[in-house]
Amino acid sequence: MRISSASWITMPGASSTTAPIFRRRFRCRKSVRTASLEVTCDGVYEAKLNGERVGRFILAPGWTEYRKRLQVQTYDIEKLLKEDNVLEVTVGSGWYRRTNAPWTKTQNPDEFLPAMLIAALYIVYTDGSEETILTDGDWEVSESEVTLNGIFIGEDVDMTRVPIFRPAVICDHPKNILIPQEGPEVREQETVYPRSSFRTPRGEWVIDFGQNLTGYMAFDISAHAGEKLCLSTAEVLDKDGNFYNANYRSARSRLIYVCREGRQSYKPRFTFFGFRYLRVDAYPQGFSAENIRAIVLHSEMTRTGWLHSSDRMLDRLFSNIVWSQKGNYLDIPTDCPQRDERYGWTGDGQIFCRTATYQYDVRQFFRKWLADMRAAQHDNGWVPEVIPSLTAYKPGGGAWSDAVTIIPWQLFETYGDLSFLSDMYPAMEKWIAYIPTVSTDKDLWTGCWTYGDWLALDAPEDYHPATIELSKRGFSSDDLVLSVFYANSVDIVIRSGELLGKDVSGYRDLYARIVSAYKARFSERLNTQTEKVLTLHFGLTDDPQRLADALAAQIADCGTKLQTGLVGTPYLLHELSRYGHGDIAWSLLLRKEYPGWLYSVSKGATTIWEHWDGIRPDGSFWDDDMNSYNHYAYGSVADWVFGVACGIRPMKPGFAQVLIAPQPDRRVASLSAVLDTVHGRVSSAWSWTDNGIRYEIETPVKTKIVIGGKTHIVEKGRYLL
Ligand code: BGC
Repeated sequence: MRISSASWITMPGASSTTAPIFRRRFRCRKSVRTASLEVTCDGVYEAKLNGERVGRFILAPGWTEYRKRLQVQTYDIEKLLKEDNVLEVTVGSGWYRRTNAPWTKTQNPDEFLPAMLIAALYIVYTDGSEETILTDGDWEVSESEVTLNGIFIGEDVDMTRVPIFRPAVICDHPKNILIPQEGPEVREQETVYPRSSFRTPRGEWVIDFGQNLTGYMAFDISAHAGEKLCLSTAEVLDKDGNFYNANYRSARSRLIYVCREGRQSYKPRFTFFGFRYLRVDAYPQGFSAENIRAIVLHSEMTRTGWLHSSDRMLDRLFSNIVWSQKGNYLDIPTDCPQRDERYGWTGDGQIFCRTATYQYDVRQFFRKWLADMRAAQHDNGWVPEVIPSLTAYKPGGGAWSDAVTIIPWQLFETYGDLSFLSDMYPAMEKWIAYIPTVSTDKDLWTGCWTYGDWLALDAPEDYHPATIELSKRGFSSDDLVLSVFYANSVDIVIRSGELLGKDVSGYRDLYARIVSAYKARFSERLNTQTEKVLTLHFGLTDDPQRLADALAAQIADCGTKLQTGLVGTPYLLHELSRYGHGDIAWSLLLRKEYPGWLYSVSKGATTIWEHWDGIRPDGSFWDDDMNSYNHYAYGSVADWVFGVACGIRPMKPGFAQVLIAPQPDRRVASLSAVLDTVHGRVSSAWSWTDNGIRYEIETPVKTKIVIGGKTHIVEKGRYLL
C-alpha cells in the first residue's frame, strides 16, 4: 500500500471531541488516466474532493482491534478530479478516540488521542507519468464546523464558523497496524419518512418514524444564520405518551445544528443513533416534519432469507428480527445500537449468528470481525467478552468467548466454506487449551466467571443483573453453563480438525472425559429449563427423551412459559420440537402474553427487545438502566422458524444437500420460508386446506423431504405435496 510511505498528520492542540478538517490543494496539469486515494484515520472520517463526497462508506474506517488492525480504504477518484483540486478530510472521534462508557476500560490509555490522518493520493496521467501526494507537512488543518462529536455524544455543528487553516503537523503513530479494507462498507441503506408529528402531553414536539432503526436524521431547511435546530432521539414513548430516552444511559444522542444563512441540508457524519422518535427541542422558523427524514445505516449485506405467514403478528415479529439485525450489524455485530454500549458482545453475536446467516449473506461481515477476534485473543488463549476488545481480563467467559468456535462452525455449515474453520482453527485450539488453566475442576469448566444464563426469568423477585452477584444471574448453575460450552467448543475443534486433516485424537479423549465428568456431576441436578435445554442440545445426556419430556412438563407446569435467558432460549424450541413437543414450541412462539415472542409485538414493538417485558403490561418500563428496544438475542428464534417450522436445514455443509422437514401447527394457516443458499434458492411453504396440508417445496440440489413421517429423496426442482 502506498499509504505506508505517508506520514501521520495531526492538528496540534485540538480537543478530542472536535473534528478537524485536513486540506490539501493540488493541480493536475495533464489529463488523468486513473487516480486513487488510500486513506484512514484514528477515528471516523469523511473525505471530499472538490466538494463531492469520496465513496459511500459511512463512519469509515470502521471499528477494528485498533492496537493491531486499522483498515485503509482505497477509492477511485479520477471522476472527481479537475485541474485545480481541493481534497478535504474531516476526522471525527469515532470509536478510536471514543469517550467510553464509564464501566469499561478504554483500549487507548490516552482517552484524548488527537485526531490523526494518513493518506496517499496516486495519479497516473495518460502520458504514463505518475504522481503521488502523501500526507505530510504540506497539508493544512483547521477546526471544522463540527464542534463536538462522538459515537455516544451525537453531534454539535455550527455552520457559521469559518475555518482558519494552518499547517498540519507530522506525528508519531504506528503504521504497522494498517491493513487493506476487509469488512463490507457501512452505507446508507434506505430512507424512512415521518409517520406522524405531534405534541406530547408534556407539550413537547415529537416526530414518529414508525420504525425503530439505526442511522441518523437528515433535513433540508431555509433558515437565518445563527438559528438553531436541536433534535433528540428516543426508541419509545412512556406510558403517558411522553418522550423518553433514559434507557440510553450516558449516551447523549442529540444533534445540535446552528444554521448558516439560506437554504441548507445536513445529516450527522460522525455518529449514529438508535431511534424511532425525534424530539424537536429547538427549530428555525418554518421548520416542519416535512423537512426531515431518517436514514438507515448498516453494513452492506445481501438479503438471503424471507419468512411470511398468514398471521399478522408473526409477520411483524419476523420483520422485527430483520430490523434488529440491520440495526445491529453496523460494522460489527453489536448488542444494541442506542445506549452507551453498542459493543461487539461475543455472546449476543454467537446467539444470533445462525439466524443472521439465514437472513443475510454475512460472510464478509464475519470474516472481518473474526479476524479482530483473533487479534484480540490474549496470549494465554482468553477471548475477550467484547470484540473489538475493551474490557479487562477476568478468567472465564463461557458462552460468550465460545463465539470463537461457534461462529466459524456456523459459517461453515451455512456457506460450506472451509476457510472459516482453517482461519480460526489455531484460535479455537488456543481457547480450549486456556480453559483447563483456569478451571477449578479437571475435565469440567468450573469456578470461573460467566454471565450464566443472562436475564433468565427463573431468578429471584428482587433480581437485578447490575447489582446481584454473578452466581444469581438466573438460577442455572454457572459451572454447568461453563462446562456445556467447554464440551461444545472441544467438539467443534474435533469436527473442524477432522475436516482440516488434523490429528484430533487427543481432543477426542478430552471430549470423552468432559462428557463423562459432566454426566457424573450434573445428570441429577438438571433443575432449570436452561440446564435441561443445554444438556439436550449439546448431547450430554444418556436419556434425551426422558429429559425432554421433563422439560416439556416443567414448561407446562408453569403455565406454558419460558424461563430461559440469553443462553438457553436459542435452543429451547429446537429441543422441544426434536423430542416430540412441537406443540409446546409453537405455543411459546405464539404466546401473546409476557413472556412470549408476540408480547412485544402486541405492545407495538418494531424491533426485538432486550427484555421480554421491556414495556410491562401496565405500560411501565422494565428499568432505565438496562433496557434496550433493539437487542437481537431473542430474535434467534427465526432460525427455528426457518429450520424447523419450515424445516429447511443443510444436510451437507453450505446446503450442498438439503433436508426439508417442516413441522406445521394448526394455529397458523400458512407459513413460508425462502432461502438463497450458495447453491441457489430453497423454499418451503405449507398451508392448511380443507383436506390436509399443502406443501410447496423448491430446491436447487438433491434434497431429503420428510413430511408426515414419510421420506422422499428428490433432485433439483419444484414439488407439491
Ligand atoms: C449487553 C448484553 C451482553 C451483556 C453481558 C449487556 O450489557 O447488552 O447483551 O451480552 O451485557 O452479559
